Amino acid sequence: MDFTVRKLTPNVGAEISGLDLRQPLDPATMAEVRKVWLDNVVVVIPEQPIDDEQQIAFSRQVGALELINMSALQMPGRPEIYGATNLDENDELMPPDHPVMQVNHDNRKWHSDSSFKHVPAMASLLHARIVPPVGGDTAYANMAAAYEALADDMKAKLEGLVAVHNFYWSRRNVKVTAFTQAETSALPPTRHPVVRRHPETGRRALYVGSHTESIEGMEWDEGRALIDGLIEHATQPEFVYQHAWRVGDLVWWDNRAALHCGMPFDITRHKRRLHRTTVAGTGPTL
Ligand code: OGA
Ligand code: MN
Repeated sequence: MDFTVRKLTPNVGAEISGLDLRQPLDPATMAEVRKVWLDNVVVVIPEQPIDDEQQIAFSRQVGALELINMSALQMPGRPEIYGATNLDENDELMPPDHPVMQVNHDNRKWHSDSSFKHVPAMASLLHARIVPPVGGDTAYANMAAAYEALADDMKAKLEGLVAVHNFYWSRRNVKVTAFTQAETSALPPTRHPVVRRHPETGRRALYVGSHTESIEGMEWDEGRALIDGLIEHATQPEFVYQHAWRVGDLVWWDNRAALHCGMPFDITRHKRRLHRTTVAGTGPTL
């Protein structure tokens, strides 16, 4: 299948047009598309009128799927689909203090999906079904480009460092718990290198985000300053693409090489519903 590629910024993001994801891609096309994705970290595939089954089928061409770990965050009856939404199952607005709204709100902090898991996610694919008239963009930062731009002494300092990631750290301000006891104990803190070598491209990338709680062997304050400083460095405009959603957009990103965050919109007035599939990683990072 013929498709065209247009870069969205110099450092991150490309748009692919000419694909129809309602049908499986043939293996040769899929291999070419995957190369574009690896090179650009984030790809936008607009104008895709796909349903959940078709999104799941395309996502499985990328790799095996993760099931969404918390039932409150799944689309009803669909453990493969995470709902990035402010709507309930009747597409009515949820109140901002609803537990699910509180958990989803923290997607506004820069993060890599499932970095709190022992085997963290490879990829995520977010498909826009309902978008607000203003706001609600999603921003993406290229963590490989950010790593490469660090000074040599900082690269040397990061060599071999290990960080602790913890879902309940990024969700520490969630007041009403949306999780069962079993879900909480199923997600203990886990360890990942601060600099990750990409298993497919070999490129090195920073791997810290909002789930990163501390750095092993460092005082708490020193670790926090390092984590926050690296996130601030990596999310400077030169490493970032900000996506303004149109219904039908599919955005597919590489969690091994990108941070992302949701941007504000008026959650009390405007509806937003995006469906996410998550492709599992292939093994532990250490
Ligand atoms: C996600 C996520 C951000 C957004 O779905 O993983 O972080 O803009 N979403 O909804
Ligand atoms: Mn996310």
